[in-house]
Amino acid sequence: MKSKIWVFILIISAVIIGGCGANNSGKEMDHSKMNHEGTEMEEGTKNEMENGHMSHNEPLALNNSTGENELAIPPILEQTDEEGIVYELNAQEGKTEIFDGYETNTYGYNGSFLGPVIRVNRGETVKIRTNNELADGTTFHWHGLEISGEGDGGPHQILKPGDSKTIEFKVNQEASTLWFHPHPEGKTSEQVYKGLAGLLFIEDENSKKLGLPSDYGVNDMPLIFQDRKFDDQKQLNYEKVKNEDGTIGDTLLINGTVNPNLSVNKEKVRLRILNGSNARNYTLKLNTGDTFTQIATDGGFLNNPVTMNEVTLTPSERAEIIVDFSQYNASDDVAIVNEDGVTLLPFRINDENGDLKNMPVDMNDFAVTEEEKNLPVSKKLELAGMGKAVTINGKKFDMDRIDLTQKLGVTEVWEVHNKTDMMGGMIHPFHIHGTQFKIISIDGAEPPENERGWKDTVSIQPGTTIKLAVTFNNKGIYMFHCHVLEHEDNGMMGQVKVE
Ligand code: C2O
Ligand code: CU
Repeated sequence: MKSKIWVFILIISAVIIGGCGANNSGKEMDHSKMNHEGTEMEEGTKNEMENGHMSHNEPLALNNSTGENELAIPPILEQTDEEGIVYELNAQEGKTEIFDGYETNTYGYNGSFLGPVIRVNRGETVKIRTNNELADGTTFHWHGLEISGEGDGGPHQILKPGDSKTIEFKVNQEASTLWFHPHPEGKTSEQVYKGLAGLLFIEDENSKKLGLPSDYGVNDMPLIFQDRKFDDQKQLNYEKVKNEDGTIGDTLLINGTVNPNLSVNKEKVRLRILNGSNARNYTLKLNTGDTFTQIATDGGFLNNPVTMNEVTLTPSERAEIIVDFSQYNASDDVAIVNEDGVTLLPFRINDENGDLKNMPVDMNDFAVTEEEKNLPVSKKLELAGMGKAVTINGKKFDMDRIDLTQKLGVTEVWEVHNKTDMMGGMIHPFHIHGTQFKIISIDGAEPPENERGWKDTVSIQPGTTIKLAVTFNNKGIYMFHCHVLEHEDNGMMGQVKVE
């Protein structure tokens, strides 16, 4: 009897293993690491699961930064000389010397790689002329911006090669670090991978009077984290390294710089961190074990600075943190490391004292109201599957199908569940266009302190259900999707029409 059961188990395992193999197009998987009931997971596998890369056969570790290159700081985009507040952005191809002596074919905005920072103020009416100088269709999506559906730059607003479009919007939200990137259907991951991404800063009365470090490039630093895999010729061969479950690489670029170091004075330095990667999650900490302070989420300041040992960012999430370098000496070895202890960004501490100001205590008045907590759930979404088989509520994205409707200015509670699967599942960073939302709860509990602020992307662990309070302040059609870019491209995306 017992032996029959074993034969049965063996057959079932063979079927399961065979199925996995097929899904991974012949790539080998280490099945000893699979999380079968009763088997011990290896440490690496646990991390792998926490990082949401259970489906990757070999989770690529990142290389240590040697610190040999000074971190590039993206320029602030100047206005054109037209009347009003007008900016111009060109999506273009180029060649970039990321590695000494090699020309890498890349994409960029107004340059060969990545883009400038656009800095706008609340209350302003801003025009941005966008031009597609690529040989491929693209869109200009404003991630985190409250803008009409028409201007949002989702997959409906494709610009053919040579096309231009001017958008106009009133900046109607609080100070925050947003970003922009392309969003053409099925091609987002490739275009972002090749270099299309830039930052959009919103400033307001509050951000200007808080006394936070705000000297751009000196103590107010943008940090765009992106992992890439380069081939022998130091090219970004996306098709070759593409993973349907999220493309990761062994080489970290920060602001496009490989092996970066960052020079700072002995003062408090504000780091505006964007996880601009296609799929990799980062848990960032200081190698010294010292704490730092988080001051902002995706869409604005936290009410009070939150002391942190580490911060985890899934794709498209941002965090603004303050590191106090006045506590160190020039000879100290201080770096940002990840969850594996890999050095991502070593600091060079100058002997100069910077501005020794105190941290503000009260920064914002964000709150999830009792009313919002008591609202019934009116929209339910289930994220499921892996690789090419990802879905939301069992469906794949269809440009011609409106999945949800919501009334302008009305707050609704969205409940989003991340379904576990045979492989344990993975983290899906869930993003909604055109709005900043509030996390009401994560599996019924209040979100951690550093997520009690405006968000446009929320990291959802496998098996977890989150509740969001969502309000749209503009009309139009907006996407909601997983921000693992390959999942988005594979159809883990839907549309909500706001009217
Ligand atoms: Cu960061 Cu649908 O976008
Ligand atoms: Cu996903």
